[in-house]
Amino acid sequence: MSLQSEIAKRRTFGIISHPDAGKTTLTEKLLLFGGAIQKAGAVKSNKADKAATSDFMEIEKQRGISVATSVMGFEYLNTKINILDTPGHKDFAEDTYRTLTAVDSVILVVDCVKGVEEQTKKLMQVCRMRHTPVIVFVNKMDREGKDPFDLLEEIEKELNISTRALSWPIGIGGSFKGVYQLNNKALNLFSASKKHIADDSIAINGLDDPKLEELLGQRLTNKLKDDVELIETVAEPFDRDLYLSGYLAPVFFGSAINNFGVQELLETFIKIAPSPQGRETDTRKIEPNENKFTGFIFKIHANLDPNHRDRIAFCRICSGTFQRNTFYQHNRLNKKLKFASPTSFMADNKSLVEEAFPGDVVGLYDSGNFKIGDTLTEGESLQFIGIPSFSPEIFRELENSDPFKTKQLEKGIHQLSDEGVAQLFIQNPGNRKIIGTVGELQFEVIQFRLKNEYGASCHFRPVNISKAKWISATTPQELEKFTRRYAQKIAFDKENKPVFLASSAWDIEYAAKEYPAITFHETSEWE
Ligand code: G4P
Repeated sequence: MSLQSEIAKRRTFGIISHPDAGKTTLTEKLLLFGGAIQKAGAVKSNKADKAATSDFMEIEKQRGISVATSVMGFEYLNTKINILDTPGHKDFAEDTYRTLTAVDSVILVVDCVKGVEEQTKKLMQVCRMRHTPVIVFVNKMDREGKDPFDLLEEIEKELNISTRALSWPIGIGGSFKGVYQLNNKALNLFSASKKHIADDSIAINGLDDPKLEELLGQRLTNKLKDDVELIETVAEPFDRDLYLSGYLAPVFFGSAINNFGVQELLETFIKIAPSPQGRETDTRKIEPNENKFTGFIFKIHANLDPNHRDRIAFCRICSGTFQRNTFYQHNRLNKKLKFASPTSFMADNKSLVEEAFPGDVVGLYDSGNFKIGDTLTEGESLQFIGIPSFSPEIFRELENSDPFKTKQLEKGIHQLSDEGVAQLFIQNPGNRKIIGTVGELQFEVIQFRLKNEYGASCHFRPVNISKAKWISATTPQELEKFTRRYAQKIAFDKENKPVFLASSAWDIEYAAKEYPAITFHETSEWE
């Protein structure tokens, strides 16, 4: 098959949601449709991720399991689907943000009872930064939830995106009867606790078909007719280009646990979602159909088994064909590397990859060569961009508890920061280490792993920092002036970029007023 056809048949996406909205359940149902798993339950193991447990080993066990479900590939209707898994637990949200740099689109799951939640908003912000196309799946329609019109309005307002329903629910909760597919005017009737997968769509001849009333009764039929009329008068027809550019989210309704609305979602997804897209680098845009292989590392998973120290670096293929046992250029290290056992993971299976194409993700065994964001090519010197760090939310100073293990601590904390476990900011003089995370659990992870893998002991000291802003200036002299004036609040990130560590929003405002030549950035990459 030509490279072009390999690209055209691929869809690489992530499923995101606030914990508990049904991401795991939906993932599992999609895998069932794809025949990738035989029974429900295979993906569930990852689910405990979201429990607000502080039992560290429990989390690590789950993280171990989640390697297997990091990327789930399967074929459906001649399409190769790659689902990139994202951790459910909010303390590992950074992992999710990074995974979103490796997808071409997302499916966002919203709970119809709870509507748009905290984490949904944050994840959407990340999607918007990259104009990632989003499909919304409103889940749990078998429960008494919010009115679907109100939900659409809430999604538009809270997530700052236009919506267009492509299916419409008939009744809700106890009276939920099914969904009407607005585009192909078919009806799907709901039967709770469906264990099997069946094509249950009923063709009807438009909303005036008498069959409708026979199936739904008069009240629900009238309500459906009114709803559809309203949608079709107020909403524009679905515009795929607007969806592809990230401005319009098609919306589906269903109940993942009951396997309802999932097939329509999947089939529409295959039709409208983008195939692997071009990606920006520091020198030029790479198109997927270029013959030469390029890819970047977006996730690194440590192997917690002390007997097998190697890690797995997940590489998203951006162009050309990746081949096993072929030398590729690691641009940051300016080093040639080849991979004898590139791996793909699927539920509880893993298999050796001989070749892989744009949109695919391969797991590369790594003994410490990779950092998040590293680029592999066939020799061209370039670096993929668009894999920024975001300002962490919690900051602590890391202190060494065992002076005899200083070296181990240095090595360990740098490696953990390369893996993306947390962000490390160094303040000089003094080599003060400020750790920034999005959740408390990350501190536990660091402490545990430093001890377990590097033999180093540490503790954390509270610091008066609430925000990190990357800074740039109109001239190097201006930057120098600013960093001198604010020396105590300046630190350097893992790429040695200067960061302003602010104790409050007021702090930033004040500094910005005092130094208009300085720009403060939310993330480590800016235009
Ligand atoms: P997450 O990955 O987004 O965190 O959510 P997950 O799929 O684990 O689902 C969260 C809970 O919501 C689970 O219940 C799941 O069974 C339930 N759920 C998912 N889809 C639907 C749906 O369409 N309707 C209803 N009524 N519930 C749904 P749980 O009690 O936490 O777990 P379990 O004991 O059912 O496994």
